Amino acid sequence: MKLMDIFGALKRDMDFIERQLYRSIDGDDELLSETSLHLLKAGGKRLRPVFVLLGGKFGNYDLQRLQHVAVPLELIHSASLVHDDVIDDAGTRRGKPTVKAKWDNKIAMYTGDYIYAKALILATELSNPEIHRILSKALVQMSIGEMEQIRDFFNTEQTVRNYLLRIRRKTALLIAISCQLGAMAAGAPEKVSWLLYRYGYNVGMAFQIRDDLLDLCGTEKSIGKPPGSDMRQGNITLPVIYALQEADLRADLLREISGIHAEDGTGEVSKAIDMIVSSSGIRRSEELADRFIQKALDALDELPENKARSHLKEIALFVNKRSY
Ligand code: IPE
Ligand code: IPE
Ligand code: MG
Ligand code: MG
Repeated sequence: MKLMDIFGALKRDMDFIERQLYRSIDGDDELLSETSLHLLKAGGKRLRPVFVLLGGKFGNYDLQRLQHVAVPLELIHSASLVHDDVIDDAGTRRGKPTVKAKWDNKIAMYTGDYIYAKALILATELSNPEIHRILSKALVQMSIGEMEQIRDFFNTEQTVRNYLLRIRRKTALLIAISCQLGAMAAGAPEKVSWLLYRYGYNVGMAFQIRDDLLDLCGTEKSIGKPPGSDMRQGNITLPVIYALQEADLRADLLREISGIHAEDGTGEVSKAIDMIVSSSGIRRSEELADRFIQKALDALDELPENKARSHLKEIALFVNKRSY
């Protein structure tokens, strides 16, 4: 199932956003445009702009205004991926070589910086300091989240709470504000943008848990990169934390993980993955994702009933069974 099939109704507006996205990174410098376009052209679900537009449906929907939120949010997401692939030393994303792989880490650093800067410039078009502040604060949180991830690589002592705090920062907040800022830019009542924030936050938490599950259980074809990347990089995700809680598995799994650590990401991860996949870690992670999705649906129930609300519901259900 393609996300776009769920909401054909938004297609025309999303095509416009797509064109604006391309335009936004064109023309300053040949190499920067090329590297920035490289990731954009590789595709992606464009989930954050979709959330902005749907949020906008709860107020006075005006695409000309909403683009100044939707484009920056997708740009911020893209920039974070360019940097994330440096940190995670990832060779493939969206089925294509990453910027760091096709060029190098230095170029990827400035490509990310450039895309972030373009996002903030575009957001000033709204002349709304509150929106600009929320965007910038989310960026700060994402930086902290990625630093936490670096600090916690191969830390097998981390707790579920550490994990949840980290994914809140690195993923959920950006999705939360995508929903919220769409409504704010459209002048929706504060209560509405707050409920959309709550929806987005909970969907975002489930989204990252699902991403982490896909990294263990997905196929290269479906996720656009080799599975097991988190394990190789020492990114200890929720299913791993749960698996480590199993007394009769813990010692063996710890040994596998420290073996991977010692081989500096070049060793075999399939044994560790098999252990995790056959533990209760997968089911328990799915259950936690379900709980976040339920909270997202609860927030939706309090919103006025309209078509956007049912689209948001479909997206929440999509997130919870996504395979890409
Ligand atoms: C990937 O996000 C990074 C996470 C926050 C898990 P997406 O899954 O939305 O990436 P694209 O944009 O569709 O490639
Ligand atoms: C999400 O984390 C990245 C950001 C929020 C920047 P991941 O490291 O899990 O994302 P993927 O799996 O590389 O897309
Ligand atoms: Mg990554
Ligand atoms: Mg991942």
